[in-house]
Amino acid sequence: MSEYLSMLYLWLKSAHLIFVIFWMAGLFMMPRFFVYHQESPVGSAEDGKWIEREGKLRKIILNPSLIIVWILGLVLAYQIDAFTQGWFHAKLLAVILLSAYHMWMMGYVKKLARGERTMSDKRLRLVNEVPGIAAALIVILVIVKPF
Ligand code: HEM
Repeated sequence: MSEYLSMLYLWLKSAHLIFVIFWMAGLFMMPRFFVYHQESPVGSAEDGKWIEREGKLRKIILNPSLIIVWILGLVLAYQIDAFTQGWFHAKLLAVILLSAYHMWMMGYVKKLARGERTMSDKRLRLVNEVPGIAAALIVILVIVKPF
C-alpha cells in the first residue's frame, strides 16, 4: 500500500511539473505577443488576429495550467505535510506573486482587446523578466529547501 502511495506521489509530481512547464511557457509568450500586438493599428485586421491569438493562449494554455498547477501543488503539499515547513511558506509567497502577475496579464489582454495600450514596449520587455526570476527562485526553494 505504501509503495502504491509513493508511486502515486511521483506521478502527481510529474504531472505538476508538466503543467508548470506549460504555464511558464504561456507566461513567457504572452508579453511577447503584447509587444507584437501593439505594433498593429487599433481596429486593423492584424489587431483582430492578435486578439484571437491572445484569447486562445489565455483559454487553452494559461488559465487551465494555472488551475492544474495549483491543485496538484496543494495535493503534493498535503501529502508531505509541507504546510509546516519554511521553504514551502517562501514558495507559496513566490507562487502567489506569480499568480498575481498572471492575473495582471489577463487584465492587459482585455485592455488590448478594447484598444487600450497603456504600457510601452520597453516596459513590457522589462516585465517579461518576472516569470524567469520567479521560476529560478521557486526551483531553488523546492529543490535545495534552504530553510
Ligand atoms: C502554484 C502553486 C504550487 C504549489 C502549491 C506547489 C507545491 C509543490 C510541492 C508540495 C512539491 C513537492 C516537493 C517535494 O516533493 O519535495 C512541488 C514540487 C515541485 N514544484 Fe511546485 N508548487 C507550485 C507551483 C510551482 C511552480 C510555479 C514551479 C516552478 C516554476 C514549481 C516547481 C516545482 C518543482 C521543480 C518541484 C519538484 C521538486 C523535487 O522533486 O524535489 N512549482 N511543488
